[in-house]
Amino acid sequence: MTSEQHVAFARRYLPGGVSATARANAAIGHPLYVRCGDGARVIDIGGRELIDMCVSHGAALLGHNHVAVKAAVQEALDQGIICAYETLDHARLAEQVVEMIPCAELVRFAGSGTETVMHGLRLARAATGRTKVMKFEGHFHGYSDGLNYSVAPPIPSAGPPDRPTAHPESAGMPANLAHDLVILPFNDPEALERAFHAHGNDTATLVLEPINYDSGCIVPQAGFIEHCRELCSEYGVVLFFDEILTAFRMHPAGAQGYLGVTPDLCALGKAFGGGMPISALTGRRAVMEHLRPLGESEMSGTFLAHLTAVKAARAALHEYARPGFFEALNARADRFYRAFQGAIERSGVRLRLQHVGPRFGLYFGVAGPVTNYREAAAQDRAMLMTFIAACFERGVYLAVSPHHGFSAAHTDADLGHVADVFEEALQQVHRAHPGTEPRDGG
Ligand SMILES: Cc1ncc(COP(=O)(O)O)c(C=O)c1O
Repeated sequence: MTSEQHVAFARRYLPGGVSATARANAAIGHPLYVRCGDGARVIDIGGRELIDMCVSHGAALLGHNHVAVKAAVQEALDQGIICAYETLDHARLAEQVVEMIPCAELVRFAGSGTETVMHGLRLARAATGRTKVMKFEGHFHGYSDGLNYSVAPPIPSAGPPDRPTAHPESAGMPANLAHDLVILPFNDPEALERAFHAHGNDTATLVLEPINYDSGCIVPQAGFIEHCRELCSEYGVVLFFDEILTAFRMHPAGAQGYLGVTPDLCALGKAFGGGMPISALTGRRAVMEHLRPLGESEMSGTFLAHLTAVKAARAALHEYARPGFFEALNARADRFYRAFQGAIERSGVRLRLQHVGPRFGLYFGVAGPVTNYREAAAQDRAMLMTFIAACFERGVYLAVSPHHGFSAAHTDADLGHVADVFEEALQQVHRAHPGTEPRDGG
């Protein structure tokens, strides 16, 4: 079957030819259909080798086909594909999480990030007896009806910048759920204080991406996360870090270790399983003990913590805990970003690059630092699409996503090649989008 035939075949049976919306790729005109993957590379269905700069939307931080993860999965298969039973490995994995993640005292595993964050919301409500939820505009917390608001709202329907309105990200979400949400601009201490003053005593949780990769890569400004911590403690609000994307990304203790601020509750996912489907809800005992069977907040399911994924996560955490793992990864990241920044400056394309660890955001047409969603939304999407298509033509795969990245399996040589491809792709963007060069000072 040729690639074209496969695209037509998939579209006949899968809505849009995909099993998840995020796998559609409008820049290259079809989803990437993969035959296999190894390390930094995937082979597509037509046999073409691509350097993967999507890395399973962040899940494949160890690269594809990691030998220790594969051995762990094999071990679980040999044990009999145990499903819906507890094993020693479950408690051992929880112990590893508690040893690595500062806020972790008790751990409950689930499958996806969406599922874990949804349960975290319910747990925070059960623990506090309150219903309101504060979240930041541009922060993504999965697809559940209660939280899938104001991730990438069109600016005309997003409300005033200092008091954004709750914008549903999908059709079919009951409108009344928006009444419990308070949407805030990120990195705006005055708006934060105002919200706590008005709603702090009715609020169960403030949920946030400690590094907002889902709007590219936006870091909290000096003192902002500390301010969130102080206000949550003052008002008895559960501070909930959604570390689905940040956990084990740039630091063995996740963004909470990197930033030095400990939440009450956090969600781990993506890289947690080394490419296998597992997530975790973890936090302070006083919050976590509201989960059944200790408390009254429900979080259960037949497939929660499947042994194949539990063992894979144990192997992945073992890799992340190795001395020097993150030092090497972050040093490689620095070398790559230096090369890429040089290419940007030579290209004459106005492009803002922001990064933390091995993940980065690209803001085409934007000059200054991006500190919140509204600034991120000013980017020129057509330039990004040209860039992704140009990279794909040259054997480098990027998803149409706010964030991109690489794995520990990407070598300096791989990343040097990617930087060269990025430079050529920028030249193509320059030719395709004349008149978007940086102005003085930008
Ligand atoms: C910060 C954050 N939270 C939650 C999710 C949802 O996780 P999943 O795709 O595993 O359901 C994502 C996924 O991209 C994410 O980036």
